Amino acid sequence: MTDVSSDYAELLALDPEARKLLFTEARTANSFTDEPVTEEQLRAIYELTKWAPTSANTQTLRVLFVSKGEARERLVAHMADGNKAKTEAAPVVAVLAADQRFYEHIPTVFPIKPEMAQYFESNEQASTDHARYNAILQSGYFILGVRAAGLAAGPMLGFDGDGIDKEFFGDGRWKTIQVINIGHPGENAWFDRLPRLSYDQVVAHV
Ligand SMILES: Cc1cc2nc3c(=O)[nH]c(=O)nc-3n(C[C@H](O)[C@H](O)[C@H](O)COP(=O)(O)O)c2cc1C
Repeated sequence: MTDVSSDYAELLALDPEARKLLFTEARTANSFTDEPVTEEQLRAIYELTKWAPTSANTQTLRVLFVSKGEARERLVAHMADGNKAKTEAAPVVAVLAADQRFYEHIPTVFPIKPEMAQYFESNEQASTDHARYNAILQSGYFILGVRAAGLAAGPMLGFDGDGIDKEFFGDGRWKTIQVINIGHPGENAWFDRLPRLSYDQVVAHV
């Protein structure tokens, strides 16, 4: 059993069960049972994910849920060999993408500065960087959302992103940033738990 050291646990507002579910005992799943994941569960995951912050509230993440069948086979073809079997087996797979035209929503999601839409529309590099940065940020929130729904996530970067983009996002508007298997963990779902860096290894003060 893992939890935050008792020296610090009492400083956290999050209760022990939630800490375990979201952080300390949550693991990256590499195999899945056949137990389905429902559309309602996927909606519940998004209903949490959407509230976590993004730059100028732009919410650049887009999600393609890929069910089992013909579409899944098309996705698996673009996964790295070591990721194929688990991507085939997961009840649902999410292709996370960055919306290259996220700025169309700016007048609604950031009405205090609607002119930012024109800035991003006419600055391709800034727009691409902003879309990717915030979609990756939201992908971390999404993983916590999956865990909050009592499900296991298996995030992956081992894939041919251009291949997935051509396969599913032919118009170029969505660009793949991550693929996440979602479901209930199956047999031998976990690799060995790997060490985490300590506070003292990652923190500096000035
Ligand atoms: C962005 C990201 C990309 C990853 N890519 C892969 C991958 O392509 N294949 C794989 O088997 N695991 C992949 N992983 C899994 C990590 O190795 C794993 O989450 C990490 O070692 C922690 O494992 P734990 O949650 O079981 O402690 C990825 C994880 C993240 C967050």
